[in-house]
Amino acid sequence: MASLTVRQLDDRLKKLLRLRAARSGRSVEDEVRTILRDAAEEGGSRAADLIEPPASPTKRGAAVSRPAAPAGAKRVLLVIGGGIAAYKSLDLIRRLKERGISVRCILTKAAEQFVTPLSASALLGERVFTDLFDLSGEFDIGHIRLARETDLIVVAPATADLMAKLAGGHADDLATTVLLATTAKILLAPAMNPRMWANKATQRNLAQLIADGIALVGPNEGEMAEALERGLGRMAEPLEIASAIEKLLSVQPMQLLQGRRVLVTSGPTHEPIDPVRYIANRSSGKQGHAIAEAAAAAGADVTLVSGPVNVTHPPGVKVVEVETAREMLQAVESALPVDVAIFAAAVADWRVANAGVQKLKKQAGKATPELSLVENPDILATIAKRKMQRPRLVIGFAAETENINANARAKLASKGCDWILANDVSPQSGVMGGDCNTITVRASGVEAWKPQSKDEVAATLITRIADALRGSK
Ligand code: CTP
Repeated sequence: MASLTVRQLDDRLKKLLRLRAARSGRSVEDEVRTILRDAAEEGGSRAADLIEPPASPTKRGAAVSRPAAPAGAKRVLLVIGGGIAAYKSLDLIRRLKERGISVRCILTKAAEQFVTPLSASALLGERVFTDLFDLSGEFDIGHIRLARETDLIVVAPATADLMAKLAGGHADDLATTVLLATTAKILLAPAMNPRMWANKATQRNLAQLIADGIALVGPNEGEMAEALERGLGRMAEPLEIASAIEKLLSVQPMQLLQGRRVLVTSGPTHEPIDPVRYIANRSSGKQGHAIAEAAAAAGADVTLVSGPVNVTHPPGVKVVEVETAREMLQAVESALPVDVAIFAAAVADWRVANAGVQKLKKQAGKATPELSLVENPDILATIAKRKMQRPRLVIGFAAETENINANARAKLASKGCDWILANDVSPQSGVMGGDCNTITVRASGVEAWKPQSKDEVAATLITRIADALRGSK
């Protein structure tokens, strides 16, 4: 039998098949083929179950098949509003599910202009809710239950219109009715044009919402979807929203690197000229230390090899304090094997060949001392090019003051590492010693991160590392 045509499938079955296919990333035809193959192999006894999970013993119309969330999982009801940022809310669903948080989702009518119920339900593993009056639907559970069966309602993107309705107590669709009917906490992730955000009406509504105890994440400053527009109004990134949710729900930050060994180098090195003088650079160690702290918070077993710094070492990490590049290399090699090595230290490229054993003295009338420099070992390249015990992921930084992209590309190739995080360390960037950083990651592709605090850079990096390790298992 080369092909098979099935006629007169009812609409509900077609919808279920489309949903299954979207969920497993197959075409409907492929999905049907898979179902038939599995059913045939199992003697056909479970054919019906493969198309639809067995009905729960509860009444028709009362049950929703929900994928198993961990027992005691926190529940979030995500309301996706109608804005261009709605696509980021799909990533938010993924981020919340990764964290073991159970998610239900309402799409407003306007949101359906930006994302489809099918794409959201494929990520959720269950249907999304769209209609207030869908009482005849097979799966309807009613807006009161939606409002009640949740620990937190997150509105993302929260448009100016949704904020106005919420501030005024309107209830003219499913989203606003649920928001009015809930006693759960509410978190808004506003997203709108900067002029709409600055408008007096929006600011008045915002003040009312804050007075009503509603929590906010963002909006952030940055590029708008409209060409050439910039300002305050961008929706917070999914990871920021996820961490605001974790805080509101008092969920332990996700242990993304549980069981992994991570090595981080941080700070400058000091290369002695004599026992009291040295060559150094302006690195504060803030970025490397933030990465070590974030890795430890994500459950990793962290060794931090630190040059001389004034910042406090993070708790819960093994710290090896070193002074020179050669000591740093030795400490790094002793910490192997590790899964991931991140080289954030600003290692001095040269040391003084003829460093004095005693303090160099001024001698009246004599020539000033000449310092002869020799090259230090390149710690990153040494580790990245190891045949034995090479970490699975070797990550370097490219500290540049000019030609950032070209230099970063060249460093990625010459050092043999897997990723390079390029940053502008020119004096006007304020990165060296400052609290913020703007990173461009270069691996097989290039990814520009928005300007953010060094702690946020660290958190983003840890998530990317966890994704990469998961993908390469
Ligand atoms: N690095 C290292 N050992 C060195 C020099 C640099 O491990 N002796 C690492 C840094 O920790 C960083 C990367 O190499 O991850 C790039 O450092 P950077 O200072 O940007 O570049 P250099 O290799 O020193 O080259 P240049 O100073 O010429 O830009």
